[in-house]
Amino acid sequence: MEPFRFHLFVCTQQKPEGVPSCPASGSLEVLDVLDREIQARGLNHDVQLSSCSCMGLCDEGPVMVVYPTGIWYRRVRPSDVTEIVGAHLRDGQPVDRLIWNDSAAMKAMAVEHGEKFRAAIAAREKAGTLPDHLDQTIRGYMPSRCILTALELDIFTAVGEGANPEQIRTKIDANARAVGMLLNALVALGLLLKSGDVYRNTPESARFFVQGSKDNHRNGLLHIANIWHRWSTLTNAVRRGSHIPLDRENTPEWTHDFIAAMQRNAKERATHVVKALGTAGVRRVLDLGGGSGAYSIAFAKACPEVECEILDLPEVVPLTAEYVSRAGVSAQVSLRAGDMLRDDFGCGYDIIMLNAICHMFSEEQNQDIFRRAHRALAPDGRLVVQDFILNPDKTGPQQAALFSLNMLVATDAGASYSELEYTLWMKAAGLAEVSRIKLPGPSDLIVGRVKQVVSA
Ligand SMILES: C[S@@+](CC[C@H](N)C(=O)[O-])C[C@H]1O[C@@H](n2cnc3c(N)ncnc32)[C@H](O)[C@@H]1O
Ligand code: FES
Repeated sequence: MEPFRFHLFVCTQQKPEGVPSCPASGSLEVLDVLDREIQARGLNHDVQLSSCSCMGLCDEGPVMVVYPTGIWYRRVRPSDVTEIVGAHLRDGQPVDRLIWNDSAAMKAMAVEHGEKFRAAIAAREKAGTLPDHLDQTIRGYMPSRCILTALELDIFTAVGEGANPEQIRTKIDANARAVGMLLNALVALGLLLKSGDVYRNTPESARFFVQGSKDNHRNGLLHIANIWHRWSTLTNAVRRGSHIPLDRENTPEWTHDFIAAMQRNAKERATHVVKALGTAGVRRVLDLGGGSGAYSIAFAKACPEVECEILDLPEVVPLTAEYVSRAGVSAQVSLRAGDMLRDDFGCGYDIIMLNAICHMFSEEQNQDIFRRAHRALAPDGRLVVQDFILNPDKTGPQQAALFSLNMLVATDAGASYSELEYTLWMKAAGLAEVSRIKLPGPSDLIVGRVKQVVSA
């Protein structure tokens, strides 16, 4: 009994560069076009589309198989997809010219491939070769650094609608030979296209990296280029136990890129946070270290009666003011320049938010903030922490464990913390009830209530 009329498997097994594979022959593009064509024809209730690993027929890729009958297609091109979807998936007539029905040859090829593969694994094992996945992880900084440099130099904007290396190097004022090498590497990484001596942005690069595009992420991503320099100090920071300050840190440009990066992360999460917390009974919100103000802005937009106050460092508040003003909520969102480690928070808040804050501070500093926040909450108020939350043994999730090191190289005593740690600190601060709310994405909420909720 099949839940779908057809089930397609498209091979998307990645292999090392130079080894024949379906992705190298274009299977990812085929998968993408198939998905869009199936949706466009309204067949998604009849057809299940899955990617799969190697079927041992790599020289004939892209390979796909359609069940329940088991029709095998080979050397499928994106331009074949309309015919496959129309004739086979809609009308039930397989496309003869693409079918591969020499089952004896297919079986021989797949068996031979399996044997060669196992022999290669055994030879590598015997020779003590470093596994590919480790090698790739260790070299992972190369593509990353290449893209960060392209962003720093604003290469994608210089490429614009298409340009040759001389035009690009003139715009960014850089060395011709080196720019040529960088451009070619960006083509190899799939972020630029090259035809003759003209380079063009891919649709993704044009959308996300070019100045003036609606979804331009460059400013926020420059913060990642900045923290690259901090990560270069990791070895010494581990020896020493805390971060090694850099000359380039905390300049106005650095702070500008940092707050742009915060906005990039927070913009999408803010609506989830407001939805998870709800606005019923919420009138006054204190947003500690509000950054770009994304969370206060989301609260203000969700409910005209909510008043938010953002407390952030004096050098950040003018940037926050710009984001708040641009969002058109200045009447509901006020700003206070100060230091959350020292300043009195005030009183009577229904919610005090610590979005992406606690990881900057030590356990003691967080406990002190929690105690002072508890005193500043209304009788039925809530203290809300949003952060990467570590598992009890602190070895995962991977992003939270790596982020802890990001805090080692960036702060005196910051780290990622576990749910248990946040819960204990909140209870010690006097909060009666603590719960975790899962959010889409890598961070969650820990919410502490002043008053225990008594269920009816
Ligand atoms: C990681 S960002 C988070 C920004 C914002 N909450 C968000 O999630 O998008 C940390 C924020 O805390 C602010 N900050 C750091 N130390 C602070 C302090 N001692 N007092 C007030 N704000 C501080 C920073 O300027 C920055 O805006
Ligand atoms: S990589 Fe697709 S069949 Fe081997």
